[in-house]
Amino acid sequence: MNPDDSFGYDVAIDEAIVDPIALLRGWLAHCDGDVTPLMTLSTVDAEGYPDSRHVLLSRCDEEGRIAFHTDSRSRKAAELAANPRASVAVVWPGLARQLAVSGDVAVQQAAGQVEAYERRSRYLQLLAWLNDDAAAAATVEERQAGWAAFDAAHPALEPPSTWVGYALTPRRIAFWRGDADGPSNRLLCTRTDAGWDIARHPG
Ligand SMILES: Cc1cc2nc3c(=O)[nH]c(=O)nc-3n(C[C@H](O)[C@H](O)[C@H](O)COP(=O)(O)O)c2cc1C
Repeated sequence: MNPDDSFGYDVAIDEAIVDPIALLRGWLAHCDGDVTPLMTLSTVDAEGYPDSRHVLLSRCDEEGRIAFHTDSRSRKAAELAANPRASVAVVWPGLARQLAVSGDVAVQQAAGQVEAYERRSRYLQLLAWLNDDAAAAATVEERQAGWAAFDAAHPALEPPSTWVGYALTPRRIAFWRGDADGPSNRLLCTRTDAGWDIARHPG
């Protein structure tokens, strides 16, 4: 493994970790730089089956709460209303890292929702307004014409009423790390009443 891709910047592979939230924030900030990480988000459907899709990570705050944003009419929103638990997974194949976080999910404060919308690209701001059942049923020409007209008529946008943010509070965090010179290695951090229980597992 290239030394630049090793684990030197956060903790040595065998070093004890005392603050999983600091490591979580460090991985998310370091691994992606200015690029918004893409997460696999899994919720649980009404029959108890896992349901996965990808969403953009909006923010990981000082408490380690992981925010993402979606449409309040979506299936994931209905599933979270019925069962506010989820997991997210992020992989960085080039860095030989994987992060898996599960926990309880709550609707984000209104201020955080507006801030996240303002940080979205113009394309994604438009998408939040226009990606609905009517657009799905329209022809591609109709969709593109509606998009162009809406774009021209709304130079500045606020979040639509369907824009909703969620924050996942980590209950379990798995840090998976590859090692070109040996077996992969995983740190499993589980929140307890006393703090964090941290155990090392095979990758
Ligand atoms: C690269 C990429 C990024 C995406 N980001 C989001 C996102 O941030 N929020 C979102 O609601 N959907 C996002 N989607 C779409 C979701 O994967 C999903 O199709 C949609 O939210 C409907 O999911 P649901 O029916 O399971 O609720 C993204 C899709 C891709 C491919």
